[in-house]
Amino acid sequence: MSGGKTTNFVKNKNSYSLPARNLDKNLRINFLVGNSLFRRIWEDAAISENIAKDGLGPFFSSTSCDGCHISDGRGHLPILEIDEDLISAVIQIGQPTKIENTNEKNHNDSTYGGQLSEFSTEDVLEEAQISIQYEFMNVAYDDGTIVQLKKPKVIIDKLNYGDLEPNTSSSIRIAQVMIGLGLIENIAEEDILKLQDIDDSNSDGISGKANVTWDMQESKFKIGRFGWKASQPTVLQQTADAFYHDMGLSNKFYPNASNCTETQFDCNNSVSGNSEIYDNFEVSNDQLDLVTFYSSQLGVPAARNQKKADVIAGKKIFYEVGCNSCHVERYITRSDGPFENLNNQIISPYSDFLLHDMGDGLSDQVPEFEAEGNEWRTPPLWGIGLTKIVSGRESYLHDGRAESLEEAILWHGGESIESKNKFKNLDINQRNQLLKFISSL
Ligand code: HEC
Ligand code: HEC
Repeated sequence: MSGGKTTNFVKNKNSYSLPARNLDKNLRINFLVGNSLFRRIWEDAAISENIAKDGLGPFFSSTSCDGCHISDGRGHLPILEIDEDLISAVIQIGQPTKIENTNEKNHNDSTYGGQLSEFSTEDVLEEAQISIQYEFMNVAYDDGTIVQLKKPKVIIDKLNYGDLEPNTSSSIRIAQVMIGLGLIENIAEEDILKLQDIDDSNSDGISGKANVTWDMQESKFKIGRFGWKASQPTVLQQTADAFYHDMGLSNKFYPNASNCTETQFDCNNSVSGNSEIYDNFEVSNDQLDLVTFYSSQLGVPAARNQKKADVIAGKKIFYEVGCNSCHVERYITRSDGPFENLNNQIISPYSDFLLHDMGDGLSDQVPEFEAEGNEWRTPPLWGIGLTKIVSGRESYLHDGRAESLEEAILWHGGESIESKNKFKNLDINQRNQLLKFISSL
């Protein structure tokens, strides 16, 4: 029952898409309307004949939430065989220097902002053409087994608005899984903060710190929980950010109908989809709340095969090699959260929601609030064994470089190097048991 009473027992393509099982019947309608907005394909205001759907762009990375969070699951890198575009991931850009005590997550590029988009509406030139190149490398176990790893690199083939600032770096981020997000938001702040060990006082090589982010709704700093670097404090704010930065749709947090910087003239002068019927935005306050509700109320699929001998042995190994130092199994959610059905739930996300130095191999040069280039939030592991069934393929880690759970583990470095090395020193049977355990989640 990984997600407490929200847990579903479905093992098919819909495993990530079901409402919390304990959601009040009267609220299901909100979930359904939120779902339809999550799947809505938005249109260019200059050509759309449907005021309800217009407002896309001028710059966008996809035309619907579901276009990236496919079946409410994770995104992936372009499929090489079909020469695919980057359709379920985004390119974050920023300066490598951190800025202290500000409500901006990092130094944006002065011309292109914080994200580089490959798509634009008809009257506006897209920002860039991008392709991905791979560097391949092999890792060998002592028993001779070899695993090939691949590392993606962003190649900017063309920039349509001049050069990036000299120091601007880019970072590929695949869309994340949408399950259990309301439960994560409902974990008490002190339960996350007490897992911090910023100076590594217990000398286990693992520190862990919470990101401190700007909550736009409450106008104050708050710990971050969402995103690969935990730079978003709430599902609401992440949703508003996605509408604006990923699809170019204005809302109460980002009122400008055009998601461009001052120097992108065509973009600034393009047709606005802001409309009085929608609170003078492209996405109304109600619509934003409904998509947030939907995103908060997706249930978590149950763990499977928990009584099988290999899975039980694999769980023991998970603890023995120290995976649980970061992938923390269990919490009880708050009793006073905003959604009654998400209160007092015993949940098993397998994450501490803290930032960890994961080594140079995984580093990018784009800090976000307190998160440095080499620091990432421990991702939850619940539901991860259903990835292939839901998404048709596997792609793990922030840029989707790992095509199997084993590859994902082999990329662990920095604070997790000792745990990774212990994994590498297991015999093949034990390694498979650990992988079976994670696949059972
Ligand atoms: C162009 C692709 C794209 C689109 C469209 C998109 N997302 Fe995302 N989403 C992402 C990526 C990439 C991340 C991770 C961002 C990061 O950490 O840099 C993410 C993260 C999230 C998260 C945080 C999940 C977690 O586990 O922390 C939520 C919630 C979310 N998106 C909701 C939405 C909603 C709601 C929409 C539609 C309004 C949407 N997204 C549209 C790509 C997309
Ligand atoms: C020091 C903290 C830490 C330890 C120890 C650790 N992990 Fe992780 N794990 C992370 C972080 C952070 C990421 C995300 C890295 C990224 O996306 O670049 C991650 C990612 C993963 C992923 C991919 C998840 C996804 O959604 O893409 C898997 C699977 C995983 N870890 C399993 C393990 C296993 C198994 C062990 C023990 C052998 C382990 N981890 C030990 C912090 C840790």
